[in-house]
Amino acid sequence: MQKTDAETICKIQNVSKRFHKHYALSNFTLDIPRGAVYGLIGPNGAGKSTLLRILAALISPSSGEVWFDNDEVSQHSASIQRKIGYMPDFFGVYPDLTTVEYLEFYAGIHKIPRKKYKRTIEDLLELVDLTAKQNELVETLSRGMKQRLCLARALIHDPEILLLDEPASGLDPRGRVELRELVQSLHSIGKTVIISSHILPELAEMCTDIAILQEGRLVASGDVEKIVQRFSANRLFEIRVLDAKHVPAALELLKKQSTMSNITHEGDNLLLAGFDGNEQTLSEIMAALITHDIAITSFAPRASGGRLEEIFMNVTEGSTLS
Ligand SMILES: Nc1ncnc2c1ncn2[C@@H]1O[C@H](COP(=O)(O)OP(=O)(O)OP(=O)(O)O)[C@@H](O)[C@H]1O
Ligand SMILES: [Mg+2]
Repeated sequence: MQKTDAETICKIQNVSKRFHKHYALSNFTLDIPRGAVYGLIGPNGAGKSTLLRILAALISPSSGEVWFDNDEVSQHSASIQRKIGYMPDFFGVYPDLTTVEYLEFYAGIHKIPRKKYKRTIEDLLELVDLTAKQNELVETLSRGMKQRLCLARALIHDPEILLLDEPASGLDPRGRVELRELVQSLHSIGKTVIISSHILPELAEMCTDIAILQEGRLVASGDVEKIVQRFSANRLFEIRVLDAKHVPAALELLKKQSTMSNITHEGDNLLLAGFDGNEQTLSEIMAALITHDIAITSFAPRASGGRLEEIFMNVTEGSTLS
């Protein structure tokens, strides 16, 4: 079986994971470039957490292999766990420990010498902005603070690879910005970060690559910009008519266009339609609207803020799969 090369830190090869009769992952293959910030995107139940748990060597695949450098995960789980910092999507029950004691406990698990970990913990508490809470019981921290504490815990042994399962959930807007900055700073010092999320535009901003998962399968993967380009053929257009009374005629005309799909009426004067054609067909549609005396005030792709979200919706609906 192939091991990783200089550019690839992790190779996921034909991984399937079955729970009873259900496949959480089916024949999943993906290379993670060294130093990437790799986003895993997919709807609930797509298999993101299952994949991250397999990468963290917490559960074994039913079939297939995962390589980190020259180590296959199921054969070398101890050395993999030294390399990896894993932040789960749940926080469980905390024993009666303060924030600092909690991190000391995990420093102990990783066998970090006491002399060294005091300073490390101070730095980490500062990094995740919990210095003021260091002597509070973990149980009394807010959800967002617990989240940040888990991130500090994942970083305690200075791992090369970070696996973050939905780290942005439960964070307030400031927390999200700080998370993004933190991921960027980890990226800048050469760490590889694999991160799952539902918050797609945010993920796109911080990731170098993304993989889109659905029902345990890989739907698309690669460089963020390339994915956007690949799927932008099916763009979402906003068509605004001058007068709401023209909406029915506009709907009827757009529905006849083979390059338009999922046409919906939003608000008084606004129509939305998926468009999968070229500039020529676009100008023909506009000409047809005008010929039918349907006055249009705008006809444009929906602003790019939601672009990735749209792509994700298109891809997971299967409508643009090539
Ligand atoms: N321990 C388990 N036992 C049985 N089924 C499981 C187990 N873990 C996951 N599954 C199933 O595997 C599928 C994938 O679950 P997973 O948690 O990986 O999805 P996810 O993409 O992380 O979803 P979410 O966005 O909701 O976190 C689901 O159908 C889930 O019910
Ligand atoms: Mg999950």
